[in-house]
Formats: sequence, structure tokens, C-alpha cells
Amino acid sequence: MEVYRVTKNSPEWLFKVYDYARTDAFCFGQGIPVNFEYGHDEPIDDTYQAVVLVDEGKPVAGCKITYPGKNVARIARVCVTREYQHKGAGSILIKEAEKWILEGEVSKIVINSQNRAQKFYEKLGYELVPGVDPRIIEERPDGDYSSAPRDYAPSNNKLGFFCVLLEKNVPA
Ligand SMILES: CC(C)(COP(=O)(O)OP(=O)(O)OC[C@H]1O[C@@H](n2cnc3c(N)ncnc32)[C@H](O)[C@@H]1OP(=O)(O)O)[C@@H](O)C(=O)NCCC(=O)NCCS
Repeated sequence: MEVYRVTKNSPEWLFKVYDYARTDAFCFGQGIPVNFEYGHDEPIDDTYQAVVLVDEGKPVAGCKITYPGKNVARIARVCVTREYQHKGAGSILIKEAEKWILEGEVSKIVINSQNRAQKFYEKLGYELVPGVDPRIIEERPDGDYSSAPRDYAPSNNKLGFFCVLLEKNVPA
């Protein structure tokens, strides 16, 4: 498995690897409409960071890293193509993202996860922040959710899942 770090000036094909993995995992795998999946993408600017995986020339996986606050990193849009799911690719992807994040001064990594992927992240050391709406990530850039309302009680959306907030203090 080849692991690539992607930034604004990376070769175009690395962006295509990520798009392929997103389309396969989310649109075909989970029925997320393509306009919804790609309709909210932030522009690719100087801060852009993504990790992608390629196996013998095939697009396998991707995730994006952002920094909502000074010492807080966020891993998002995590996807593995259906062919490669449950074979360890997701774990390789997250570990590489964490390695990159830890090259900077970061004390916490946060994830707004689909509830059905929660166990995957927990196996990688992330912990659920119970009762807190994951949309708080953007509202509290310091990553301190201790005084956040704990009344978040979501139910499944039309696509059959809801989102949860996960966090990991680093270095673990
Ligand atoms: C969720 C996803 C990223 C996990 O990647 P993956 O390559 O399939 O996961 P891995 O093979 O590295 O699994 C690592 C561990 O997590 C577990 N795991 C993986 N996906 C899981 C899931 N959906 N539910 C429960 N456990 C899961 C595996 O069983 C494995 O456990 P083990 O180490 O005891 O065998 C991938 O399946 C995927 O892209 N799914 C569709 C899109 C998606 O849900 N993205 C996440 C949005 S928040």
C-alpha cells in the first residue's frame, strides 16, 4: 500500500484518487447523493492537507485534515473504497494522518463521525464525547467541550445514520 500526503500543489491525480474513494464509499456505498457529497467542499488553498492510499495503481482511501483551532486538528471525509473496506486500509490512513498532525503543535484531534463508524475510531483510541453535538467543533476552536450542552439526542437522518463527536488527546 502506498501512502501519499496531498497538498495544494500535489499532482492532479492524487486529488482524483481521493475523489474516486469518496464517490465509491459514500455515493455508491452509502447512497449519499453526489451533489450533497461534493456540494460543500471548501476551496483547495495553501492549508489543504489530505492523505490518500493507492494499492498497485488502484485508488483505495482518503481523508482530509483541517485545523479548526490553534492546537486542534480535525480528521474528516474518511473513506475507503468498498473493495478495500475491512482490510486494514482505514487504520493505515488514520495513523498516517495522525503522524502528519503530530508534526505540528496539536494536543487534540476531533472527528465528526457517522455513528456507524464510531467503533472503527474507538479501536484507534478515539473517545465519544457523549451528548455533545459534533457541530460544536467549529464553534469552540479551542477544543474544550467541557461546558458544552450535553442534550444532543439525535435520530437517524434520511440516509440512516446520525453523527457523533469523537476526540483523542495527543500525543496519546
Ligand atoms: C469506516 C471505514 C473508514 C473503516 O475503514 P476500514 O479500512 O474498513 O477499517 P479497518 O479494516 O482498518 O478496520 C479497523 C477496525 O475497525 C473495525 N471497523 C471498521 N469499520 C467498522 C464499522 N463500520 N463498524 C464497526 N467496526 C468497524 C474493524 O472491524 C477493525 O477491527 P479489528 O482491528 O478488530 O479487526 C471504511 O469502512 C469506510 O470507508 N466506510 C464507508 C464510509 C464511512 O463510513 N466513512 C466514515 C465516515 S465518518
